[in-house]
Amino acid sequence: MNDMTLSPASAEALAPSALAMVPFVSVGDMMRLVNAAGIETVLRDLAAYIEADFRRWPEFDKTPRIASHSREGVIELMPTADAETYGFKYVNGHPGNTRTGHQTVTAFGMLAAVATGYPLLLSEMTLLTALRTAATSALAGRLLAPEGAEVMALIGNGAQCEFQALAFRALCGIGTVRLFDIDPAATAKAARNLRAQGFEVVCCRSAEAAVEGAQVLTTCTADKQYATILTDNMVGAGIHINAIGGDCPGKTELHPDILRRAAIFVEYPPQTRVEGEIQQLAPDHPVTELWEVLAGRAEGRCDARQITLFDSVGFAIEDFSALRYVLDRVRAGAAHLPLDMLADPDDPRDLFGMLRRAGAAGPASAVSGRDAP
Ligand SMILES: NC(=O)c1ccc[n+]([C@@H]2O[C@H](COP(=O)([O-])OP(=O)(O)OC[C@H]3O[C@@H](n4cnc5c(N)ncnc54)[C@H](O)[C@@H]3O)[C@@H](O)[C@H]2O)c1
Repeated sequence: MNDMTLSPASAEALAPSALAMVPFVSVGDMMRLVNAAGIETVLRDLAAYIEADFRRWPEFDKTPRIASHSREGVIELMPTADAETYGFKYVNGHPGNTRTGHQTVTAFGMLAAVATGYPLLLSEMTLLTALRTAATSALAGRLLAPEGAEVMALIGNGAQCEFQALAFRALCGIGTVRLFDIDPAATAKAARNLRAQGFEVVCCRSAEAAVEGAQVLTTCTADKQYATILTDNMVGAGIHINAIGGDCPGKTELHPDILRRAAIFVEYPPQTRVEGEIQQLAPDHPVTELWEVLAGRAEGRCDARQITLFDSVGFAIEDFSALRYVLDRVRAGAAHLPLDMLADPDDPRDLFGMLRRAGAAGPASAVSGRDAP
């Protein structure tokens, strides 16, 4: 705040009030939070928050996300609410972005109090999306992967890749990853990062080679077209597939024959039927909702030979849970910046008067959210 022209007393009077302030968690703060706690601890904690919210699924307002498509990608808003808290995330998906030094996926989001509509938290969500996506995948993996799974194929070695590996180690006991990407530089990057984290890493020359000996197959590629990352012959009995890259109309990763052999688990059918792998199937093809398995209302993996598929697209409740976790950390003292985000006139109906009086008090007071004296 530029308060050089104000006396200390008037500067204090113009300081934003408590009601004007919203905690903001920047990318730097998020990195501090994750590195201080340890990433696998954060992934386990996020999975616990997501599980707790999935178990009370009927309490949430739910809607498929609102997508704005363009030739280059998609921009989406993902809202949800329970009786007390409202949340939303802004997120994009632009598969060509990395060619110009941009991320494929960036995001930010917020929580607000349902009772007043006042924001409670504003947060970066690019890192948080990678963390919550991986935590959700591993939560599904814990229910669906074959017993004793130790090896995972990771096809697509971009931004999400290492987070997926770490979540599957933290929650499912995966210790070996078999990597493939059409861009060898992406595989080299992931191999370097994951070896440094203590993984056994095998770099493969093809997707076919990557799936050899793996009990879990994770696909996290980015392509705007229908892609076939896995064909039917690549998926043997007993495999669990964690498909996260097919998450838009026209953007899929699996051959439809795989889907016909698999027990399919989804987040929210009205969204997944439009965006997920199952957009390739009839609209009434049977699927199981993940929350029902977590709540003990439906079965997960039934036998050792079953092929299971988590057709992940990412749903708003996962972001809500992740933001809830971050807000709890902020309340427990995690680093954040209090943002002067909400106008707070002394008389709530005199917003205009607040503006006028701030103008009369000089240019410095224009930065204040609180009524001028
Ligand atoms: N389900 C979810 O909740 C969720 C959340 C976040 C991201 N995603 C999706 O996950 C995907 C990966 O995201 P990201 O941030 O890691 O993207 P990214 O662009 O950083 O990485 C994608 C990688 O896939 C590779 N690739 C593309 N086509 C391939 C192919 N045919 N075979 C092997 N590799 C291939 C690219 O070379 C790149 O390295 C995106 O499609 C994104 O939309 C889903």
